Amino acid sequence: MIRSAFRFLRANPLSGQQRMSQSCLAGKVAIVTASTDGIGLAAAQALGKRGAHVVVSSRPQANVDKAVALLQSQSIQVTGTTCNVGNGEDREKLIQMTLDQCGGIDILVSNAAVNPFFGNIMDSTEDVWDKILAVNVKASFLLTKLVVPHMEKRGGGNVIFVSSVAGYQPMKGLGPYSVSKTALLGLTRALAPELAHSNIRVNCVAPGIIKTRFSSALWENEGIVEKFKKHLSIKRIGEPEEIGGVIAFLCSQDASYITGETITVTGGMGSRL
Ligand SMILES: NC(=O)c1ccc[n+]([C@@H]2O[C@H](COP(=O)([O-])OP(=O)(O)OC[C@H]3O[C@@H](n4cnc5c(N)ncnc54)[C@H](OP(=O)(O)O)[C@@H]3O)[C@@H](O)[C@H]2O)c1
Repeated sequence: MIRSAFRFLRANPLSGQQRMSQSCLAGKVAIVTASTDGIGLAAAQALGKRGAHVVVSSRPQANVDKAVALLQSQSIQVTGTTCNVGNGEDREKLIQMTLDQCGGIDILVSNAAVNPFFGNIMDSTEDVWDKILAVNVKASFLLTKLVVPHMEKRGGGNVIFVSSVAGYQPMKGLGPYSVSKTALLGLTRALAPELAHSNIRVNCVAPGIIKTRFSSALWENEGIVEKFKKHLSIKRIGEPEEIGGVIAFLCSQDASYITGETITVTGGMGSRL
């Protein structure tokens, strides 16, 4: 058995590399929410560089236009539209525009999140909880519900949620946000077995501290960075591209036997529930 595998590899030296090729997502259509900056933009770049047609979106048109121009300058096939994921009409518009312009949907990266509150969890209000759960959790589920029938028409697909290391260990001052990120770990596990029947894999990434606008309050403060570094094996803050690459991997054939899983990308920060 092993000998025949070696014989096959000798006869087909490129077969292993082809799975890893830069065009492994050619022909796929990928919606990435909140993708005009930070991790979402890096995910769009990673998917686009591997051949996918990416659909980018966020709230103001000007930010969408800027991201589309950047991706086009990198020879990535891209379509852009505005979409506030907390708004049902916007979600439906995003899906319809993708179908009209790209002809189908293969990948959803649900990346958008808000955090309107910093402080003791006992001081958080119902409004704070409504907003955080609506954008970070409910919209992720409702977008999945919208895309699944279209993925089924294509014979399968991939859904990726963007959680956080805070979903494993709530961060001080970020209680409601952290709880919303824990909910995404549960959503991943709840959806994966149901959607496996439709050849749709559902996975999640949980970034650590990544250098984006969202986390600037953390990495702009040298004192906080030094404190965080004590918990890291890799002694630096992560870059958005280091999350984008993992998302692209999860959407590729190389991850064909992975579903219901969350990959932590934290530079070695401890993370378990
Ligand atoms: N950075 C980190 O250290 C870190 C760590 C763990 C997890 N995460 C997660 O990673 C994801 C992305 O965060 P990031 O750090 O990349 O943030 P970022 O650089 O600040 O980018 C956020 C993006 O989200 C868009 N956006 C915000 N609210 C939106 C909404 N309601 N609907 C649609 N788009 C919206 C923004 O665009 P507009 O302003 O143009 O709408 C922007 O494109 C989030 O889920 C976050 O929780 C980040």
